[in-house]
Amino acid sequence: MNPSIKAYRSAIIHSTADPALVGLENSYQYFADGLLVVEDGHVKAVGEAAELLPTLGDDVTVTEYHRSLITPGFIDTHIHFPQTGMIASYGEQLLDWLNNYTFPAENEFSDEHHAHDVADRFLTELMRNGTTTALVFGTVHKESVDAFFETAEKYNLRMIAGKVLMDRNAPDYLLDTPESGYKDSKELIERWHGKGRLHYAVTPRFAPTSSDEQLAIAGQLLHEYPDLYMHTHLSENQKEVEWVLELFPERESYLDVYKHFNLLSERSVFAHGIHLCDKECQQLSDSGSAIAFCPTSNLFLGSGLFDLKKMEQMEVNVGLGTDVGAGTSFSILQTLNEAYKVMQLQGEKLHPYKSLYLATLGGAEALRLNDKIGNFEVGKEADFVVLDEQATPLMDYRMQQVQSLDERLFVMMTLGDDRSIFETYAAGRCVYQRG
Ligand code: GUN
Ligand code: ZN
Repeated sequence: MNPSIKAYRSAIIHSTADPALVGLENSYQYFADGLLVVEDGHVKAVGEAAELLPTLGDDVTVTEYHRSLITPGFIDTHIHFPQTGMIASYGEQLLDWLNNYTFPAENEFSDEHHAHDVADRFLTELMRNGTTTALVFGTVHKESVDAFFETAEKYNLRMIAGKVLMDRNAPDYLLDTPESGYKDSKELIERWHGKGRLHYAVTPRFAPTSSDEQLAIAGQLLHEYPDLYMHTHLSENQKEVEWVLELFPERESYLDVYKHFNLLSERSVFAHGIHLCDKECQQLSDSGSAIAFCPTSNLFLGSGLFDLKKMEQMEVNVGLGTDVGAGTSFSILQTLNEAYKVMQLQGEKLHPYKSLYLATLGGAEALRLNDKIGNFEVGKEADFVVLDEQATPLMDYRMQQVQSLDERLFVMMTLGDDRSIFETYAAGRCVYQRG
């Protein structure tokens, strides 16, 4: 037996480029009867089973799936693990929702037992939904981030997270200071950044909850450790935008606040970006920053409709985010379902090949991890999902009517959710199996 090599036989699809750059038909590879060969947690080969099977030794185990589709693991570019227990909280838009529900829930994370319990539930939920990489908010407490990374390390997931920086305009019990925020972040960076598959993100919550001093310190951390991420919120809600302009009267726009403190770079990810002017879009594009498009959250909080077409035209990197707990599902498939509707409301179409790209390679590119994950290029880490096309009686029946690959993908993205995830693999190891 050669236990280090394993092969998986199924229909297989993966993105190879952004359809906006190469056209829909050049943006993916599909193998109707495909084989994914994995060695030591990395992709060794992908292609038609008929071609690859004869190249394998007799001792290699081949796992076969029927009426299934293998895709790369899904990538969630914006989510809050401490909000797992308060998802689906009724009635408010952003600022009241934060005050009434979010801040009290985050207060519980000074207790490390609670933080561990929620981190495990959260990561289990991601794996149940086929998500293998996420960019994750903790709380202001450093214990929350230790708990998160300890749990992610256990499952060997590629994860990015950070301690929230917030030193004003929130309840006292959730505030840090510029000095303590710096010290705690630094301690976490030293402990976790680059350990196994883990990365650290400097995480100011959003402009209203950090003083000038604290935003400057966020910039200083990024300067001290050039390969850190920067993760925050931007221009989600009209009242929030007005508030930022009142708090920073000397800045010309919301994004200009972050720009002033040197927080824009290729490793910066801004959640939402709904109410941006052209100049802000251009600055995002010029700096190589990314936006996390979070449709379920934007609909749930009544924040607005994200203009994906404009971001394409202005060459802004975009990934997909669930933004749980303002988002209403951990499922990237359900997030794509809602993304499609957000586009419909603006008279635009979201093609299933673009959706596949956003959920996988596009997310990897937004996170600058496309040399490691996002598709099945040889040598990349073997993070993948086995999707079941018979997950529900309705999906089974609807799939029997499909005429084309894009229709089949579209049905999966519209009707699919956690029930469609048969198995999830991280670095070649099965981390979730349905039932
Ligand atoms: N803006 C600042 N904090 C948050 C948060 O926790 N969720 C969302 N959706 N927006 C925010
Ligand atoms: Zn968020």
